[in-house]
Amino acid sequence: MSHTFHLDNQVAVVTGACGKLGPIWIEALLDAGARVAALDLSGAPGSGAYDALAKRAGDRVRRFDCDITDRVSIEAAANGVVAAMGEPAVLVNNAGVDQPPDSAGTRHHLQDLPVDQFRRMVDVNVVGTFQVTQVFGGRMAAAGGGSIINIGSLYASVSPDAHFYDHLPGNAPFIKSPAYGASKAAVVNLSRYFATHWAGQGVRVNTLSPGGVLGGQDDQFKAKYGSRVPLGRMAGPSDLMGPLVFLASAASSYVTGHELRVDGGFTAW
Ligand SMILES: NC(=O)c1ccc[n+]([C@@H]2O[C@H](COP(=O)([O-])OP(=O)(O)OC[C@H]3O[C@@H](n4cnc5c(N)ncnc54)[C@H](O)[C@@H]3O)[C@@H](O)[C@H]2O)c1
Repeated sequence: MSHTFHLDNQVAVVTGACGKLGPIWIEALLDAGARVAALDLSGAPGSGAYDALAKRAGDRVRRFDCDITDRVSIEAAANGVVAAMGEPAVLVNNAGVDQPPDSAGTRHHLQDLPVDQFRRMVDVNVVGTFQVTQVFGGRMAAAGGGSIINIGSLYASVSPDAHFYDHLPGNAPFIKSPAYGASKAAVVNLSRYFATHWAGQGVRVNTLSPGGVLGGQDDQFKAKYGSRVPLGRMAGPSDLMGPLVFLASAASSYVTGHELRVDGGFTAW
């Protein structure tokens, strides 16, 4: 049974590889036996976790430039991955943008939020995911198999609680962008779409929706957030790795079009 959770020598692609969650997915895939193509914007700085992991993994992790909003850039990355590593069997559509509370820029009241910010989030999180799926998923469909995991969010299902942020100073209350959850809800449905269209070619497509992941949040936020989670805390890296390997590997061979919520029960009440 346990062999079904292995990805021995398969090529796995992770977009947005250099940020906070990218190294978590990469470590899980490496542990399961895969080799990893790490895609990110040209010049994107590697997080400490990414740099340490890439160094440790040697040639089992290779970095490729890719802007997921640019089809030409995605095709160039796909050609580079295939030439250097072989045909990918796993794609983790992880690249995405959000506006964390500490991000630079003036805060806005909801009725004044600039529409350009909304469009940018949809462009990266939805259109970007769509295009990367077209390019890499199209190759998987032609090759007769693969597993695509789109990274969603708990905010695909519920609205952010503004109370989590009401202790933060600023010229206006911090509000998490309405485009973020809307874009992630779109990702869940996009996964269902591709799942049904490519099921006949052996390509499975699922969404993994994490809850809030520990990493630099202030103590008040963590306390407020944790009190809203049935399991009582934010997610850590090891909470996310098993679910990813499950969806990537043959362990989930009869699972497609599914949203796997890894949120400690946040959306259960
Ligand atoms: N961190 C969390 O608590 C959390 C919770 C739920 C879901 N998520 C989702 O997980 C994913 C990763 O989040 P994170 O916290 O690691 O974010 P992050 O900002 O730390 O990393 C995102 C990465 O994506 C890259 N990126 C941005 N635009 C890109 C583009 N156009 N083309 C290619 N790469 C691009 C960035 O350079 C960065 O390396 C996102 O989709 C996010 O919405 C995160």
